[in-house]
This record gives sequence, structure tokens and C-alpha cells, in this order.
Amino acid sequence: MNKIIYLDAAASALKPDVVIDTEIDFLKNKYANAGRGVCARAAAVDDMVLSVRKSVAKFINADTDKIIFTSGATDGLNRIADIISKQSWFSENSTVAVSDLDHHSARLPWQELMYRGKIRKIQVMELDENFDINLNKIPKVDILVITAMSNVLGRPQNVAEIITTARRKNPNVITIVDASQYVVHEKIDVKQWDPDFLVFSGHKIGADTGVGILYIRDNEKFFPDKFGGGMVLKVSGTEMILNGSPEKWEAGTLPLTQIAGLKPAIDYLEQHRPNLCLIKYAYDELSKLPRIKILTKRDAAILSFNIEDMHPLDVGALLGAVGICVRVGNMCASWIHGVMGTAGSIRISIGSWNTMDEIKRATDAIKGIIK
Ligand code: ALA
Repeated sequence: MNKIIYLDAAASALKPDVVIDTEIDFLKNKYANAGRGVCARAAAVDDMVLSVRKSVAKFINADTDKIIFTSGATDGLNRIADIISKQSWFSENSTVAVSDLDHHSARLPWQELMYRGKIRKIQVMELDENFDINLNKIPKVDILVITAMSNVLGRPQNVAEIITTARRKNPNVITIVDASQYVVHEKIDVKQWDPDFLVFSGHKIGADTGVGILYIRDNEKFFPDKFGGGMVLKVSGTEMILNGSPEKWEAGTLPLTQIAGLKPAIDYLEQHRPNLCLIKYAYDELSKLPRIKILTKRDAAILSFNIEDMHPLDVGALLGAVGICVRVGNMCASWIHGVMGTAGSIRISIGSWNTMDEIKRATDAIKGIIK
């Protein structure tokens, strides 16, 4: 049987051995809870969590206490909407700007708030001729959601400029960055971008599922959304005194094993970013073929396309039958597919494990389907 060619890194990245080994070692030899014990083993887990938090902070140039562990980007994005909408100062007249680059998780929490009358309006920002957020059309709103890189189009957005422009229109705008796809390909500097919130998932960068990062710039401004063990300094009767950040955002036991794997995943990613020459090669090969409509640019981090008169699911099944894994469908990003005039597409996304030989075999298989 042919070896599987996994071209679906954007759905979830394969895990480097060092991540798997670190998690196994933690589970077998080092496991205890964090923030709850005084024995040496528990203290070592506290040290591990702090050390990973520091690594994540360094990775995106943040202060360590602004790094919150979540279960993933979807959790982070839902929590942000929940946190903002629960603040006593939050007005139900608030407006939110989103874009058609968004993953469902970046916009649906706001739609849910609108259905419940908790926000007044959702405005969709205009895209320019390259399907980038149009810097000349940034609206004046109270909350702005920026997808730093679409998981369908794979183009980095000018996040710093979008935030600066939005602040020029409303100095109090709350800015939220979904960096889930961007973080795989580009270095993030939150001090340069200066968003109020930023999220990404561990699983797309080679860490495990079940862990993500939520960056909160100004944690004093927000009352927490989740309550339980570890987030209070003191309770008495019906009173509670909250811990500072990050603890006040991390009620309950953390996903410790997945956190252990996050540091080696980051170290590995920084040394082994996906080689985008493979995407360019596939782009050049597919663009020569009849019946292919490519949705992405040659220099994008992802290649999404359609084959005329074929459903993406059929293409995915045919490629799957010869051991080639791609993602097909709307990729939980219906809006950008709508803008492109299609309900879905076929997506090739790569990780550092992919080789030129694999991309050649995949493009040959696509040529075979078209014949
Ligand atoms: N959001 C992930 C993707 O792009 C799951 O496939």
C-alpha cells in the first residue's frame, strides 16, 4: 500500500516526535496537577506550566502574564465574545465589524449575541481586489474582529495597519485577532500589532489538540467569564477576591499534557516552517490544467481550488482512495467561499514533513482525475 501523503496541515498538523515524546514522558513520569500541590512533583508541574507560558510569550513577543491557556482558538474566540458582552460597562448598542475571511468561530459567537439582543449590529468589512481587508474601508465600530490569515486563501493581512486605522476611527475599539492560520507561517509580534485579544490553537502548530492560547492585553479591564478552582485568591461567604492574570482566566484543571507538548512544538515550528515552494510548485502545475479554478495566489501559504463539473467531496474521495489527504468542503469558512462564488473547495496545505516528491505525486493524481 502507498504511504499516506498528508496535505492537510491546516486542518491539523502532524506531531513532531519531540512533542509526542515530551507528552509521553510527562504522562508516564511527571504527571501531577498544577497550582494545587506542594510536593516536589506538583511543584515541577507548576514550573513546567510557567516555562511553557514563558515560551509562548516569547514566541509572540508578549508579557508572560498575558498568556492564557484555553482548549483552542474556537474556545478563545467564544470566550472573548462572552467576556466582552458580560462586562458591566458593555453597551447593547455596540457594533462589531467582521470580515468574510473569518472562520465560523470568529463570527458566530457575535451572531449569537446579536440574536439575543446583546449587540446592535454586525458589519462586514469590505475586501479589496486581492480579497484582503480593505484598509481604506475600515469602519468605525466598537469591536473589530481580524482574521490574520484566512484558512482558505492563506494570505497574511496587514494586522498592524488595520488596528491603527480602526483606533483612529474609534480610540476605544476592542480589537480581536484570530491568528490560527497566520501563526503557522509568520512571526507574530503582539507588541507591534497591539490587539486587545489574540487567539490561536496548538494543534495547527504541531502541538496536541485541546490546547490553545488566548492573549489578553489589558486583563484588569475585564471581569472573568469562568469561575472555579485556581482563579480566586480568597472566598468568604458570598464574596470572592480574584487572582491576578493569568490565573483569574484559568478556572479548573488545565490541559497539562497538551501544555507540556506546546513548548517543543513551538521550538520545532520555529526551526521548520512549511516550505512554501511546494505550494508554488503545485500552483504552477495545476494552473496549466484545464477545468481547474484556483482560488488562491501563487505566493499564498495554502492552495485552494475547484475542478469544473466536479464536487469537491468527490475530488477528496478520489484523492483519498490513493492515499492523498486534502481537505474539501467549506473549511468552516463559508463566507469567503460565498464571495468566490462557490460553496466549497479542495485545499492543499503543507507542513514541514511534506516533500517535493509528495507534492509531485499529488499533482499527478489531480491530473489523473481531470483526464
Ligand atoms: N480550521 C481548520 C481548517 O482550516 C480545522 O481546516
